[in-house]
This record gives sequence, structure tokens and C-alpha cells, in this order.
Amino acid sequence: MDFIKAVNAVLDAGALMKDATYRTNAVKKGDKDYVTACDIAIQKSIAQALRQHYPDIPLIAEEKDNRDILSDSVFILDPLDGTTNFLHGYTPSCISLAYVYKEQPVFGIVHDPVADATYIAEKGKGAQLNGKPIRVSNVKNIENALITCETSPYERGDADMHFDVLKKVFLACMDIRISGSAALDICYVAEGAADAFLTRNLSPWDVAAGICILTEAKGVCTDWKGNPPSMRYKSDILASNGLLQEVLYEYTGKL
Ligand code: IPD
Ligand code: CA
Ligand code: CA
Repeated sequence: MDFIKAVNAVLDAGALMKDATYRTNAVKKGDKDYVTACDIAIQKSIAQALRQHYPDIPLIAEEKDNRDILSDSVFILDPLDGTTNFLHGYTPSCISLAYVYKEQPVFGIVHDPVADATYIAEKGKGAQLNGKPIRVSNVKNIENALITCETSPYERGDADMHFDVLKKVFLACMDIRISGSAALDICYVAEGAADAFLTRNLSPWDVAAGICILTEAKGVCTDWKGNPPSMRYKSDILASNGLLQEVLYEYTGKL
């Protein structure tokens, strides 16, 4: 399949994220969980383009009801990953779009228009950042690793267990970072800027594109028990350069 029309749909919609007026009219959809006019406008714009160019492929997207979608062949879209950042004018945030076949991410694009960073990968064809090939780091000792994570902000009942794991990782590694965008965190591992990423309760649209980009950059992504992340339900995600995967399972509880 040719994904160029999907890439163009995302790049075109990226212009909307530079329009600060879209930060207005935020609507609360859950505890500490908001949707802005920008999330909606980006989703509408990309959905329209995908419908036009890939009429047979259904779209799973964060800001819509996806319950009737049973196809093996789907696009998965997070129109705006990092909405809390966007709402505050704090970067980074991005658009994340994947094509998934039989639970396997086959194509992914993660586009951060403010940083002018576009990560793209297609299965078997490698991963690029702004057209240049990227590859994970070769850091193999946790004490030398920069590790990214998120806070699982919409499941605060998990905070004790989640932060307990993150605290143990923090004490072992060089330092941790929280960007506010899980999709970008995985791309930072793919480009070798960070060495691993771990966070609980991430949705398929947070991670599907990043997983394709990371695996094409020779990294590894599983859930905290070592299984492939679900493309239907939330997963606890552990992504790394591959060299740190086994040692991090000691913290996430696989071993
Ligand atoms: C969220 C961000 C955040 C992560 C949350 C995600 P959203 O996505 O990726 O960093 O901690 O779990 O849900 O709501 O900004 O699309
Ligand atoms: Ca998201
Ligand atoms: Ca979102």
C-alpha cells in the first residue's frame, strides 16, 4: 500500500497545531482529561482525507466511537497527543497516525509541527526523522541510560504502584524525563535521544505509530510482561533500544 496520501493528510493537519486560537473551547471529557477544538479539527481533517484516499480502511481515532470497527486492517489516529501540554502552550505535542494490519503496526507517522520533527516508518523500510534514517542508541547499562516516562494522568488510582516502579528506575538510571507526549517519547527512543520509555495505561492511538517507528529503528516495544502491546485496549508499555529491555523487566515485574 502507498502511504503518501496519509503522510500528506497528517502534514496538512499539522498547520492547525500552530494556531493558538485552537487552544480555546477546551471541553472536559474525564477527570483532568480535556479535548480542545484543535483535537477535533485535526481528527476531522485527517478522517476526511483518509476516507477519500483509502475508502475501504476504517479509522479508529481517539475522539470518536470505535466500537463497531472489527476489521483486521485499520488506521489508528491520535489527532493530538499531548493535549495537556497544548492547552498550556507547553511543548511538545504531536499528531500520531498508524496503519495496523492484524494487530501489527505496518506504517507510522508522528508529526510535531512546532519542533518541525516528522518521524515516519514503514515495516521493512526503516525509520526516518525528517527524511534521514534513525536508529536506537547502544547504551546497555541502566546507570548510563536516559529514560522517559509519563504519569498515567487519567488513572490516578494507579499512582502509588506506577510511581513506585518509576522511582526504582530513577534511582538506577542516569535520569528520567517526562515530555507529556507518549507518542513522542517512543520516537525519542527510536532516534537514540533517550534509551528507554516505560508507562502504564497507554491507548493504541498513543503508541501504534511509535511502535512501528521504534521497531524499524531496531528498538523493541512490549507490554510490561513482555507481550506485544494490544491494538484494541490499553497496555502498560516498555519500549527500549533492545539492549535495556531485559533489565527493565526486572522493574516492570515480568521476571
Ligand atoms: C496522553 C499523553 C500523556 C500520557 C497519557 C496519554 P493525550 O495522551 O500521551 O503523555 O501520559 O497517558 O493519554 O490525552 O494527550 O492524547
Ligand atoms: Ca494520546
Ligand atoms: Ca489525544
